[in-house]
Amino acid sequence: MPSSSPAALAPVLVLVPGATGAPADGGPRFHLADATVPQLSVTDLVATRGDGVFETIGAFDGVPVNVGPHLERLARSADLVDLPAPDLATLAEAVDAAISAHDPVAELSVRVMLTRGIEGAGVPTCWIHARVSDDWTPYRAGMRVAALDRGLPTTVAETSPWLLPGAKTLSYAVNMAAVREAKRRGAADVLFVASDGYVLEGPTSTLLVRRGDTFLTTPASAGVLPGTSVKSLFTWLQEQEGRTVREELMTLADVTGSDGAWLLSSTRLAAPLTHLDDTELPVDHELTARFERVLKGQA
Ligand SMILES: Cc1ncc(COP(=O)(O)O)c(C=O)c1O
Repeated sequence: MPSSSPAALAPVLVLVPGATGAPADGGPRFHLADATVPQLSVTDLVATRGDGVFETIGAFDGVPVNVGPHLERLARSADLVDLPAPDLATLAEAVDAAISAHDPVAELSVRVMLTRGIEGAGVPTCWIHARVSDDWTPYRAGMRVAALDRGLPTTVAETSPWLLPGAKTLSYAVNMAAVREAKRRGAADVLFVASDGYVLEGPTSTLLVRRGDTFLTTPASAGVLPGTSVKSLFTWLQEQEGRTVREELMTLADVTGSDGAWLLSSTRLAAPLTHLDDTELPVDHELTARFERVLKGQA
């Protein structure tokens, strides 16, 4: 069968009954499953309550990037929602199995999902779904971004931890609603702004701002997800390029007056902002291409 046929590019599903402990039925910790038939119970708490956590890992030419940091963040999110700790070694093996079972492609999106499980069972459900990434080319060339009020202050993690700021939960309906609002405003994505006026992050991405030779991002303590992509870029910028990097609370004026801004994430990589609302920003395509190589693990 030619590798470009649709069947050859079918998504891969790996079920991981051993994600938080030995499977009760004594079966394997993880196994391939049919991704074309229903596998999730209608009473799984992720279906009834959106109760679970997840990660999306990018794999480029078959090589996943930042698996350790992603799985550690999954464990952190699980802890924040009082889920049992996932077995990271099992999950890392299962991620590899999903990638190996998929046809070779340039860009693969590997989702690791951990839910509270079927109502009353008390056992998390876990699976890994690997599929060809969306075509992010237009976003990587530059995108308009709308600034939207998140309605919460940057002190939320301290005052109201039950709102789960900084946890990557499976309750992303608000994040997706914000992207739809951005599209209604003629933008491609969102930059959330806290009620105390500081910029936060995108619905699925981390903010990176350039001010001269200094690169800045929102402090995780402001209630944003600690991004794996920004961490990789900060290490590269500091160690290979000798630039200064730091976390800083920034206003919208700090972003619009900057020397460039990007929204970073593991599969879309570095998407530069051409405009924030109606203000045009400088775009450095050459630097963005270098960011892309770093984030693909190919620098
Ligand atoms: C809310 C949020 N912030 C930031 C990110 C970027 O994280 P990473 O760079 O680890 O993909 C994501 C990723 O999906 C996200 O959902």
